[in-house]
Amino acid sequence: MNFKAGYIQFCPDFCDPGKNIRKLDSLLKHAANADLIVIPELANSGYNFQTHDQAVKSAEDIPNGPFTRFLIGMAKKLDLYIVAGINEKDNGKLYNSAVLVGPEGFLGKYRKIHLFMNEFDFFEKGDAGLPVFQIKGVKVGMLICFDWVFPEVWRILAMKGTDIICHPSNLVLPYAQQAVPVHGMINRTYCITANRYGTEHHVTFSGKSVISDPLGKILCQAPEQQDEVKFIEFDLDLSKNKMITPKNHVFNDRRPEQYKGLV
Ligand code: ACM
Repeated sequence: MNFKAGYIQFCPDFCDPGKNIRKLDSLLKHAANADLIVIPELANSGYNFQTHDQAVKSAEDIPNGPFTRFLIGMAKKLDLYIVAGINEKDNGKLYNSAVLVGPEGFLGKYRKIHLFMNEFDFFEKGDAGLPVFQIKGVKVGMLICFDWVFPEVWRILAMKGTDIICHPSNLVLPYAQQAVPVHGMINRTYCITANRYGTEHHVTFSGKSVISDPLGKILCQAPEQQDEVKFIEFDLDLSKNKMITPKNHVFNDRRPEQYKGLV
């Protein structure tokens, strides 16, 4: 099956959703021939809030806020699917969320389950589970940045049949880009980490957005500190094949009765 997917790496402007819409408007045009494109975490607002006021003022309702409506407009215009990180406001609470939109409009959202550092001061912990969506016959799930540390969520998405795990990020720790392809290898999924770059209030983000295949091979990787729009063709037969050897299956060989210590 011919399916092209990839990432946009960019540097969001802090607390300026209008400027971020303008930046993405020009970057997204370079993704016109992709089927699916992933955009970094908190792409509407930037990341390193110093005050609650900053976080609230740059948050929006999903799916009726201006940033989500912009993404839906671009998805219709370019005929592609977009996953993007969004600072979400819902009933006075903030969530570090990701949306999936497409030519048919808003498809759904994920709320980051594992918060990192000062995010606890601004966001609620994600409470919406780990949804999986089918687009053009391909199953797509979402995780956000620091979720990379927790193998459980990658496994759950894979066991739901996810072919491509989309991973909008604002990565700070320098080794996450090594770990993500390994999650993909262990679960036999494609992974797309769309990271940001730049510095906000002394926190520097590490770029190096990465696409890896179900055998853990890095298919492409962005530089550390510059914009990049990249998409490549995926072989979905590879993510559907869960045999490790002729006698070993990624999921069927699990021994849940031996894992009681886990939960
Ligand atoms: C992170 O979760 N944004 C590091």
